[in-house]
Amino acid sequence: MVARVIPVDPFELVVFGATGDLARRKILPSLFRRFLAGQVPDTAKIVGAARTDMDSAGFQTFAKDAIVEFSPLAASHEAQLAEFLKHLSYVSIDARGKSGWAELKKTLQGDCVRAFYFSVGPGLFGDLAERLHAHGIVTPKCRVVVEKPFGRDLESARVLNKGLAQYFAEDQIYRIDHYLGKETVQNLMAVRFGNLLFEPLWNAQFVDHIQITVAETVGVGGRGEYYDKSGAMRDMVQNHLMQLLCLIAMEPPSKFDPDAVRDEKLKVIRALEPVAPEDIVRGQYRAGKDGPSYAEEVNDAKSSTESFIALKAHIANWRWNGTPFYLRTGKRLRARMSEIVVVFKEPPHSIFGADAGRSANILTIRLQPDEGMTLQVTIKEPGPGGMRLIDVPLDMSFAEALGETGTEMPDAYERLIMDVIRGNQTLFMRGDEVEAAWAWTDPMIAGWDKRREVPQLYHPGTNGPEDSLMLLHRDGRRWRDLEA
Ligand code: BG6
Repeated sequence: MVARVIPVDPFELVVFGATGDLARRKILPSLFRRFLAGQVPDTAKIVGAARTDMDSAGFQTFAKDAIVEFSPLAASHEAQLAEFLKHLSYVSIDARGKSGWAELKKTLQGDCVRAFYFSVGPGLFGDLAERLHAHGIVTPKCRVVVEKPFGRDLESARVLNKGLAQYFAEDQIYRIDHYLGKETVQNLMAVRFGNLLFEPLWNAQFVDHIQITVAETVGVGGRGEYYDKSGAMRDMVQNHLMQLLCLIAMEPPSKFDPDAVRDEKLKVIRALEPVAPEDIVRGQYRAGKDGPSYAEEVNDAKSSTESFIALKAHIANWRWNGTPFYLRTGKRLRARMSEIVVVFKEPPHSIFGADAGRSANILTIRLQPDEGMTLQVTIKEPGPGGMRLIDVPLDMSFAEALGETGTEMPDAYERLIMDVIRGNQTLFMRGDEVEAAWAWTDPMIAGWDKRREVPQLYHPGTNGPEDSLMLLHRDGRRWRDLEA
C-alpha cells in the first residue's frame, strides 16, 4: 500500500530557536522528509531565526548536519537534500531587542500561509509575538506554533494564553503536544469511532479499568536543569498522558473537526475528580550499573522531583462512573513502552464451571515501539479432556498489516507541521484545554509540596517504586508487564 500524499499550499515558515535541539532533532529532519514526500512546494521558504550570528550558508550547513544525523533517509537522497537546503535561509535576531526584525520582514514577502514556530522557552513567547506585530510581520494568514511546556501551572498558562491572545486569534495558535501527532494516537479515534464493535462496550458497565503507561529507559541526561523544575507530572502527565486519557474517554464528537474534538476532550478534563494523596505514587531513580542516580544527574542530592509517577484517576460522568484510569510514566524503567490497555470485565456467568478458568478481554493499543493493537480473547485450549479456557491474542501489527505504509509512518512532527500549514488544529491543544489540565494537576503538586513529600527511590531497569504496584494490587488488579 502506498501512502497518499496530499499537496500543500505554498508557505513561509519561520523557526525561532532554529539552532536549538528541537530544530536539530525534529523540525529540520521532519521538513526534509516532507520535502521528499512532495509537500514542500517550490516557492516555500523556511527561515531559521536565532540569536547565533550566522548567515544563510552557515544555517544550511547546520541543517544538513542535523538532517544527516537524525534522518536515515539523507544518506540515500543526497541530491534531494541539496535541493531541500535551497529553501532555507537564516536571520540573526534578538527576540528582546531590535536587531534582525527588519531583515526578517524583508525575507517574508509572499501572500501565502505564514507560520511562526516558537521553538524557544515560554518566557520568550510574549516578546516574539509583540515584536512580530510591531514590525508588521503578522498577517491574517499567519499562524503561530508553540511548544510545551505551556506554563508550569494554571496561573502561568493563563499569562501565556493572554500574552498570545493580544496578537493572535485562538484559531491562529497551534499548541503542540507531539503525542497527538503519533500515528497510533490518532488511530485511537479511528478504532473507537470507525468501528461498531468497540463503542457499545466502551463504558463503565463493560470496562473494568484502563491503564495508560508511558515508560522510558532513558534518564534525564543533559536536560536536568529543565526537568528538575518540572518532574514527571508537569513534563508528561499534564500533557501527553492527559491527552491520551481524553482520547480514550471522550464522547464521540459529532464530526472530526478541531473544535468538535477539543470540546469533547475538554469535557473529560473538567470531569476528572481530584486525586487523593494515597492514589499518587512518586518515584526517583537510583544509580545503576549503567548510569548515575537522578539526584546526581540534576546535581542536587536533595532534589525531591519525581522521575516517575503513577496515579489513579476517576472521571465523574455517566459513561465512566466507577471505572478507574491508572496512569504511569517514568524514566530509567525496564523498557521503553507506551501503551493503553482497556481491561474489560469478566463475563457475568461462566457456563463452563469454575475449573475451566475465566478471563477478561483486554484491548491493548501499543503506541511505541511497534505500533499495533492486540485484543485478548478467550478460546478453548486445544485437545481432549474437557473444556479448559485459555487467552490468545488477536494481534495486529500496523507495520505488518499495512506493509510499506505501516513501516514508513511519519514522525509526529512531520504531521503536525503540515497540519499547521494546512490550518488544521484538530491535533493541537486549545487554550482552555491546557488551562483545565493545569487546574487538575496543580492541586496534586501543591499537595505533595505542602506535605514535603519525597519520592520513593527505585532501581533503574525495574517497574518503578513498589508502591506503584500496590496502587493496583490493593484494588485486586495488576499493571501490565513492562516489555519492549
Ligand atoms: C517530551 C518530554 O515531551 O516527551 C520528555 O519532555 C520525554 O521528557 C518525551 O522523554 C517522550 O517522547 P517520546 O515521543 O520519545 O515518547
